[in-house]
Amino acid sequence: MHLLIPAAGMGRRMGSNRNKLLLKLLDRPILAWTLKAAEASEQITWIGIMGQPEDEPDFQEILASLSLTKPVKLIRGGATRQESVYNGLQALPEAAQWVLIHDGARCLASPGLFDRCATALRQCPGLIAAIPVKDTIKVVDDRDVIVDTPDRSHLWAAQTPQGFEVKLLKECHDRGRQNGWEVTDDAALFEKCGLPVKIVAGEETNLKVTTPVDLAIAEFILRDSRNPVS
Ligand code: CTP
Ligand code: MG
Repeated sequence: MHLLIPAAGMGRRMGSNRNKLLLKLLDRPILAWTLKAAEASEQITWIGIMGQPEDEPDFQEILASLSLTKPVKLIRGGATRQESVYNGLQALPEAAQWVLIHDGARCLASPGLFDRCATALRQCPGLIAAIPVKDTIKVVDDRDVIVDTPDRSHLWAAQTPQGFEVKLLKECHDRGRQNGWEVTDDAALFEKCGLPVKIVAGEETNLKVTTPVDLAIAEFILRDSRNPVS
């Protein structure tokens, strides 16, 4: 199973002056934790990382420090996550029939989650890891007034990995480019093309490191997983 890791963002919400994936959690950069999980997955056999050219030396250093056994390809990222994934899809080996896409910023996903998604993907054209939302979600208008409270039992928080048949996802990305669709995940492109996307049980700890408080939470979770209570 081929894996693409979008890692070409700026980390604006983190408020740091460099790609947030280069910030350290405990003793290693965020991207290194993500790669370690991908390396430990039984089903992932090939890893593509989309990054900005200025981050390449740092990415190379991370790769050298991990000595991964799986082939890794560095791919030029784009101006948006959508463009980065598009570039990644073009760089996949010809033989790739399915692909998992996993945000570099979700560095706490377990190897087992990759494997569960990879297994499920052989039975359906598209899927995403997701968990039921815990908060009540409000739809709000431009004047900050609530216009709707959707039934929570139908609301799921999308995570990654997200997995797709390569041929179909490429077609969806092409249609998205032609029509100017701007989306924040690949499932949304699939949905816009009328294709079904299944949910796979995600992990509550699989947070996307986005703002400074997430660094503290992620470190806490990592420390906890290193020292399991026996
Ligand atoms: N990403 C990417 N290419 C971009 C923008 C984002 O590959 N042009 C990646 C990020 O590196 C991250 C993932 O997509 O691993 C999810 O994006 P997000 O959490 O929004 O990261 P950033 O875009 O870096 O953060 P922000 O939106 O706060 O600037
Ligand atoms: Mg972003």
